Amino acid sequence: EKGGHASFMLKEIAEQPKAVADTLLGRIDAEGSLTLDEVRIPAHELRETDKVVIVACGTAFHAGLIAKYAIEHWTRIPCEVELASEFRYRDPILDQRSLVIAISQSGETMDTLMAVRHAREQGSKVLAICNTNGSTIPRESDAVLYTHAGPEVAVASTKAFLTQLVACYLVALYLGQVRGTKWGDEIRAVIRDLAGIGQAVERVLGTMEPVRELARSLAGQDTVLFLGRHVGYPVALEGALKLKELAYMHAEGFAAGELKHGPIALIEEGLPVVVVVPSPRGRSVLHDKLVSNIQEIRARGARTVVIAEEGDETVTPYADHLVRIPATPTLLQPLVATVPLQVFACELATARGNEVDQPRNLAKSVTVE
Ligand code: M6R
Repeated sequence: EKGGHASFMLKEIAEQPKAVADTLLGRIDAEGSLTLDEVRIPAHELRETDKVVIVACGTAFHAGLIAKYAIEHWTRIPCEVELASEFRYRDPILDQRSLVIAISQSGETMDTLMAVRHAREQGSKVLAICNTNGSTIPRESDAVLYTHAGPEVAVASTKAFLTQLVACYLVALYLGQVRGTKWGDEIRAVIRDLAGIGQAVERVLGTMEPVRELARSLAGQDTVLFLGRHVGYPVALEGALKLKELAYMHAEGFAAGELKHGPIALIEEGLPVVVVVPSPRGRSVLHDKLVSNIQEIRARGARTVVIAEEGDETVTPYADHLVRIPATPTLLQPLVATVPLQVFACELATARGNEVDQPRNLAKSVTVE
């Protein structure tokens, strides 16, 4: 049932191009517009939405953090992202014009379910992004956009995460389409790029041997840090979470711009730091800032693992290890940048003798508080 793979996690990592393509299937029409019939929230209500609030836990929360960049850019609606466990215990300001998006692979996470119930009590519309048909969270929501990742067995979420991202982009683009923002041309171009993203993920998967080798060589380390900016920041958080849960190592993700506000004090000779570099095209100021950050940490002894777009040569002199990913629009980069981090964590955990499908102390679905 593992289809020739050593673990469910490896199988699920390999299934990502298909999972991504399946999640797009039937949702883009021949003219390149989105048809999200499942989102049964009437267009006029979506046009009146004045706030989006995303609630989720763990990896799904990281998908939400990335979605915020896309939603705010393409729709100009303010978007908050909150851990479901925090959201339900404060007094969040919600009303009929708030759209709450609950992201959950299992659809059974108790904290996320409680957040959904709370939001509906306030009169807000709730859209679930979920991978499990007929599970509790979609049943209790106003509408659901299913991710079509297929069953995810390994405790560590991989293909569900990529499809959650795709679903979030679809919602963001759809909101932009319904509301007719000035980004119309960009929205159409991104829909075209999304259609090719499965192939890009496939290309990344085909180049992972050096990443596996690097992971094995780092099996004796105590700490690995991850840095990113913009959408690369939640990718860094996700890379760190994967390493914690699978390799039982100290791993932290930071916003690269925060380095000088504290984390740079952690850098010492030989410390591995994985850096997600934004595309040099598009918002190039982000790229240039990150390249300076790499120089800063390297000058202090960091062993840099640099994830950068194909053709980006500016990073080459500062990379102890260079991992190439295909060029994508800035906002879509997490779909390709996360994959090497999944492979890295899985291989490092295996090298440490850990059981990757069933890490200690963890359950696939957290149905208690
Ligand atoms: O089923 P859910 O998406 O609601 O689960 C949320 C988290 O428990 C989950 O993503 C967890 O963080 C994973 N083990 C991460 O790999």
